[in-house]
This record gives sequence, C-alpha cells and structure tokens, in this order.
Amino acid sequence: MSKIGILTGGGDCPGLNSVIRAVVRMAIPEGYEIIGIKNGWKGLVEGDTIPLNFDAVSGILPKGGTILGTSRTNPYKKEGQPEKVKANFKKIGLDALIAVGGEDTLGVAAKLTKDGIPSIVGVPKTIDNDLSATDYTFGFDTAINIAMECLDRLHTTAESHHRIIVAELMGRHAGWIALEAGIAGGADMILIPELAIDVEEVCATLKKRHQRGKTFSIVVVAEGAQFKAGTMVTQEQKLDDFGHVRLGGIGEALAAEIEKRTGYETRVSVLGHIQRGGSPTAFDRILGTRFGVKAVELVKAAKFGRMVALQGNKIIDVPLEDAVKDLKTVDMELYDIAKVFFG
Ligand code: F6P
Repeated sequence: MSKIGILTGGGDCPGLNSVIRAVVRMAIPEGYEIIGIKNGWKGLVEGDTIPLNFDAVSGILPKGGTILGTSRTNPYKKEGQPEKVKANFKKIGLDALIAVGGEDTLGVAAKLTKDGIPSIVGVPKTIDNDLSATDYTFGFDTAINIAMECLDRLHTTAESHHRIIVAELMGRHAGWIALEAGIAGGADMILIPELAIDVEEVCATLKKRHQRGKTFSIVVVAEGAQFKAGTMVTQEQKLDDFGHVRLGGIGEALAAEIEKRTGYETRVSVLGHIQRGGSPTAFDRILGTRFGVKAVELVKAAKFGRMVALQGNKIIDVPLEDAVKDLKTVDMELYDIAKVFFG
C-alpha cells in the first residue's frame, strides 16, 4: 500500500478541511494510506503525524481552519532542517506528499522537489488570492464575503453618525480582498498595495462626495498599501520565517490624515483575522474539494512537481515553479470599474 502525506502550511484559511477530506475520501478507496503531517513543514521537521481515515475527516467540511494545524515554518531558514524533512519523509515511509499552502509553503515544496523529495503535489490556498497560475485560491471567496458583510455593517453606523470609516482589510502585496470586497460592499474609495496612496487625492474625493450631499464615506484600505512618499506602516519589524513583517496600522495612519485635512470625523475598523476565520462559503468548499480530488489523481498518475489550479472553470495542473514565480497582483481593469463608484 502506498502512503500519501498531506500538510497545510502558512496562514490558515477556510476551505483547507475540504481539501483534506477530499484527499482522504478519494485516495483510501484507491488503496492508499493517508498520513496527516501536523503544523505544516514543522511536522515534517519533527516527524509529527496523525493517521487519517474516513472517521477523521467526517464532519469537517463546514469547519474553518485546518484539522492538521499550521505554522509558518520554513525548513530552508534553519541549518539542518531540510535534512530532517527528508529523513522524516523516509522514516514515515511516504511515497508522495500533498502540500497545501500559499507562495511560501509551495516555494518550499518547489525547492524540495529538486532537493530530495521529487514526489510532491501542490494545492494553492490563500485568502489573498495572489498566487499565479490559478484564477482563484480557496479562502478568498469566504474572506471577501466576510469583509463585504462588515462593510455593510460599517455603512449603517457611518451614515448615522455622519462619519468617515476607514476599513483596513488584509492583503500584503496584492489588493484583491480590498478591491473585490470594496466593490461588493460599495466602498467610496479603495486603496491597494499596487497603487501608492495620494492622501490629497483621497481627501479631495471625500470632499467632493460631501459636496454632493453625502455626509459619510467608507474608505477601504489594504493592510499592505503604502503612502506615496512614505513607507509601509508596520506593527513591528520582527520578521517571520519567510521574511515577512507583521503588517497593520495603515488604517490608523490614513484616518488621522483624513481627519486632519478634511475636518470630517473619522473612525477606523481593522478586520484582521476575522477575514480568515469561520466556515467556508460554498465556492471555497467546492474549489477545495475539486483541488483535493485532482491532487490524488496527480499522485496516481505520478505527475509530481505540479500544482493543481483553476483556470476558467477547469481544474488543471501546472509546474509548481510557475505558481510561485510571480505574485498575481490585481487586475487594473477591475480597479477601473471600482473607480466609477469613488466619491
Ligand atoms: O497570507 C494570508 C494573510 O492573512 C495575509 O493577508 C496577512 O498579511 C497575513 O496572512 C497575516 O499573517 P499572520 O496570521 O501570521 O498574522
């Protein structure tokens, strides 16, 4: 019997459990044994695993997060860890590994493919939707729906108090969440990492809106957005294993500037990890399920070093490197549509 390992790495997101369930439900009847690796690459460094069977995945489809746990461990950041990963892969007796993650986790998968573990299949996840080679990652749809609902709620309180509310959403290098949640939630201004913020322009737009009788506004800003002449606002300079700083604070900084320059009362709402928690939408459950099934098909066909992807409405597979090569930033045509509703 062949053994398939599965791990989930990086930031969690709704839909991960759909993939785990699909892998187990598809592979066990085909004669495979499934080993869950705990907490991303950390589990392979430490040899921390749990067996997965039909019972273990029963009832997990609607659950957010990941039953396997996750971490931002990057074995290539610590001496000796890639060797530990390879040794544990052998010790556990794995024949193949399904790595579910974003650019960081899949970046490690791509490296390991060339460095001793050639039998890896990648599955793309991230609420940020910023992975190349796939039209969507699961987790994103849930995140924008949560954010949209929050924007709806912020509208009623902003309107009642005649205030500006700056809503800070996630999105490190790509503004997909801000853009799509902003369009769906009727934002009056959307600021994304791809375009530096011109505070004067933001204030002019808000003033124009007030002049046409609107005494409230919702400004959506992605946490990774930057001011034109300045730098990214961060909470701390400590880097995680993948070299990322912890973001957060652009909303506060922007709100202070808006209030100072316009005189309009301004509040901030930082959505943070609310966007990553809770039950996945139908779209994310279905996408995760399709990805999980396809990942097992790739293992069966010994098509390794590949990542499953959604292109159009088809699930296909692409080289792992293609997925991690470039970040997929927002479609400016979609931003132009959003701009129609600014001010
Ligand atoms: O990559 C997903 C993401 O949610 C980003 O949008 C955000 O910048 C980051 O993770 C937050 O990371 P953490 O959960 O480690 O604070």
